[in-house]
Amino acid sequence: MVLNFTAIEAKVYEEIKKQKEIDLDYLLAIDESKDKIRRAVETLKSQGTIEEVIEKEPFYELDCNGIDALENGFIDERFYNYLKEHEVSISQINSLEISKLKKEEVVLAFGILKKEQLIEIIDGKIVLRKDSSEKYDELKKTLQQIKNQEKIISLNALEELQKRKEFIVKKEKQKKSYKFLNLINYEILEDQILYLTPDILKSKEISNLDFKEFEVTKLPVPKDIGRIHPLRLVFRQIREVYLEMGFKEMKGPYVETCFWNMDAMFISQNHPARDVQDTFYLEKKGDLPKDQELISKVSEIHNNGWNTGSTGYKYVWDLEMAKKLVLRTHTTATTYRTLYNLSKEEKENSKYFCIDKVFRNETIDFSHLPEFHQAEGFIIGDDLSLGDLMAFIKEFFKKFGITKVRFKPTYNPYTEPSVEASGYHEKTKTWLELINAGIFRPESLAPFGINKTVIAWGFGIERLAMFIYQKPIKDIHGDEANLDWLRDYVVPKTEI
Ligand code: PHE
Repeated sequence: MVLNFTAIEAKVYEEIKKQKEIDLDYLLAIDESKDKIRRAVETLKSQGTIEEVIEKEPFYELDCNGIDALENGFIDERFYNYLKEHEVSISQINSLEISKLKKEEVVLAFGILKKEQLIEIIDGKIVLRKDSSEKYDELKKTLQQIKNQEKIISLNALEELQKRKEFIVKKEKQKKSYKFLNLINYEILEDQILYLTPDILKSKEISNLDFKEFEVTKLPVPKDIGRIHPLRLVFRQIREVYLEMGFKEMKGPYVETCFWNMDAMFISQNHPARDVQDTFYLEKKGDLPKDQELISKVSEIHNNGWNTGSTGYKYVWDLEMAKKLVLRTHTTATTYRTLYNLSKEEKENSKYFCIDKVFRNETIDFSHLPEFHQAEGFIIGDDLSLGDLMAFIKEFFKKFGITKVRFKPTYNPYTEPSVEASGYHEKTKTWLELINAGIFRPESLAPFGINKTVIAWGFGIERLAMFIYQKPIKDIHGDEANLDWLRDYVVPKTEI
């Protein structure tokens, strides 16, 4: 069989044939275009003409003490040189003033010289034993070789430098080389076109063009590289769905006052969700909004229902309790901040969503983490009903491929009626709770001057991810995440 080669393929082939085995660096020097050489190597590899050999090669780099020693000499060398000119007794060791040597370095240097038997103590005096200049020259020469990435000549010196702390660091680099395997017959095809450019199209007749053939059936070796986490993709998908439906995004802080996390939405100050078991409290207290009118409306609503017709909780609302700082337990804190800041028009008609992190003081188990993500939203408008809310929820989850959804009544202090929806999880053939929703109670809207109907909902994003990927959450993220899957997962198609 005669293979068709480009000129560069032939050149690479001949070179490797001649050398039998050749380093990549050497091979890359045989032609100007390194890309062409690499491509030729790949072609020859795939034909089985040559074989790639990858070896790990150790090399060294200077560390901080190595750099210093190369510039200023070793500290023991400096001390040795000082001893050449000064008579020093052992009792002086701790009090010597030597330029460029700190006190603790003198002691260290003394220790090294002693160990290396370059000095001895005679009658309390430090006496030099043998000339050390050769040894230091060799160490410095080796440091210089390391600095220049040259071949290291003295293995003794290398060993000593490795023993000394922070003089050199050992690293590894990959060395690629190519081995010649098989003789083949080839023919050089000049003028084969690799890339079609506008110029070629303009100057030649298309039917006469001779294109280089590409091997397109072989897949490249998968690389271990970072990629977008599947959970992050779910965030993106949710955001896209909301934006397409005309929602605006809202953002709020992780650290919240109880006022925004609970009081403003008419959660009673005795509610069990306020317990330390459920909520992470911080030590310090936060500031309440400066708007005194808002504070007194919220207070009245809790005490006696204010103008809403409700009786409220019939207690005395505690301002200090509302100042406590917590890690937001739900993104509904952000919803209520947003309700407060809406323009007059938006208080009649608007749609907002939030995708963010929340915190709950949960014991970690297979379906609970103390940190997780919620996506929530609300719609303010006329004539909105529970039916609208349920239709919205169905429509929303359909976009993520969840078509079997069922509802049941539930309870929230700030919504009435409240509804919980579950979705059918195909993999485990079970119904899993998906979303909590409802119509905001008038007591939770009156302080913000909102008289329209507000339908609202919130759901755990990790839950939705379990539906999308049909996997338990522990496989998707956390310590036990399934790394093989994270590396190779395919993003499922949705109806977006
Ligand atoms: N805050 C609720 C939760 O954390 C979700 C929710 C938001 C329910 C808005 C009703 C309305 O589960």
